[in-house]
Amino acid sequence: MNSMTFVLFGATGDLAKRKIYPALYNLYLDDKLPDSFSVIGLGRREWTNDIFQSSVEQSLESFSRRPLADSAKMEKFLRAFHYHALDVGDTEGYKQLLEVIQQREAELNIPENRLFYLSVAPEFFDIISSNIYASGLGSTKGWKRLIIEKPFGHDLQTARELNANLSRAFEEDEIYRIDHYLGKPMVQNLEALGFANPILQALWNNEYIANVQITASETVGVETRAGYYDQAGAIRDMFQNHMMQMLMMTAMQLPKRISATDIRNEKRKVMDALRLLTKEDVITEVVRGQYTFGEIGAKPVVGYKDEPGIEASSTNDTFIAARLWIDDEFWKDVPFYIRTGKRMHEKSTKIVIEFKNPLKDLYAHEDKETAPNLLVIEVNPDSRVSLQLNSKNPLNDGKLETITIDFSANLDEVPEAYELLIFDALRGDATFFAHWHEVELSWKWVQPVLEAFAENIVPLHPYNAGSMGPEASRELLEQDGFKWW
Ligand code: BG6
Repeated sequence: MNSMTFVLFGATGDLAKRKIYPALYNLYLDDKLPDSFSVIGLGRREWTNDIFQSSVEQSLESFSRRPLADSAKMEKFLRAFHYHALDVGDTEGYKQLLEVIQQREAELNIPENRLFYLSVAPEFFDIISSNIYASGLGSTKGWKRLIIEKPFGHDLQTARELNANLSRAFEEDEIYRIDHYLGKPMVQNLEALGFANPILQALWNNEYIANVQITASETVGVETRAGYYDQAGAIRDMFQNHMMQMLMMTAMQLPKRISATDIRNEKRKVMDALRLLTKEDVITEVVRGQYTFGEIGAKPVVGYKDEPGIEASSTNDTFIAARLWIDDEFWKDVPFYIRTGKRMHEKSTKIVIEFKNPLKDLYAHEDKETAPNLLVIEVNPDSRVSLQLNSKNPLNDGKLETITIDFSANLDEVPEAYELLIFDALRGDATFFAHWHEVELSWKWVQPVLEAFAENIVPLHPYNAGSMGPEASRELLEQDGFKWW
């Protein structure tokens, strides 16, 4: 791997401490960092290198997946970290930053390969990328890359503006848009599961599949993020990015080659074929919910409107369920149901493929049809794949029962999403980062939903904390003769 400089905006922030430093550290323990590696941490505070390094070390104590190494090894790791105070709006500051980077490059004999990581609030994305461009930081003789965190825009229009601005400083293939769901090992596995297994690949279409269900339920509520979440809602916080990415990864067809370009092309085709809604369609195709008081694990919790920082009049969505259609030859007439919400019964992210069941009556017993075959892909908190089949039970007069075949390998020490993603960005593999087309097309689908919510033409269904969402979400599937699994 090329030697490089990792320029981190937001080096004193929460994400850096919880995710980025632990990821770099675990990559280091696995010998997956380049030999010459320089980290320039940037923040507003006036910190010395010592303070910075000990803050990095503390974050590793709290958040590293693996125990800390001996002090010599730790010291070598920390030596890579240098701090520089920067006010991101101060143009002059970037010139000094350039000098600092160049000096470190010279000392460590690092070619001008620079990875800029924006771990900052979204309002700073524009100004930072403009200043990277204007200061010459981005005019390198080697390569440059930009890693950017969500949210990528607040709606279709602002996403386009942000992209236009970033594009002045970086080419599309230099921009790595993080969606941490794409870093989850089971989401990365979806493509192999569908394509490396001819028996599944043969069935991956509307001839055999009745419907696809993608669920991400959480037990946590708004926590301390009222200011952000009440403006975002489940639709922006989870649906536009993570849920849409899981949809693409599930519905994409066999790529020509297993490469970033080909896989992202296939994902784009899914999004190109996604049927767009009108504002009026939102009323029948999307369910909006908001949690009220209830119990999570026998512990009473308050409703959304009683959460600190939330107005009693808030109509923000903490739950979304939707029916989507992909109008191409593979998925025509197969509904994709997607739901996500806070304060639900359990923390679980899973994809369920329900197969058609043409022989359900042949084996029906006492008016009970046989159960459909289900392929269940659990993403979170467990990584598991299982298949539900029907089988005769000799102990029960040979009646049919469902059996579940579990294909999970017990994987201890699975790398964290950020570890996988940062490693890919370091080596220039963009497969599991969101391409602009994917982001734009998913905003396109979401845009009428945002408008319908803003105009309140869609009911806001209350649901009890600790439930699986409002009744209307169950009815959405019932209309088509299905149920959530
Ligand atoms: C984040 C959202 O992107 O994903 C959070 O902002 C959410 O609201 C989180 O809780 C869920 O991620 P995970 O990995 O815990 O499923």
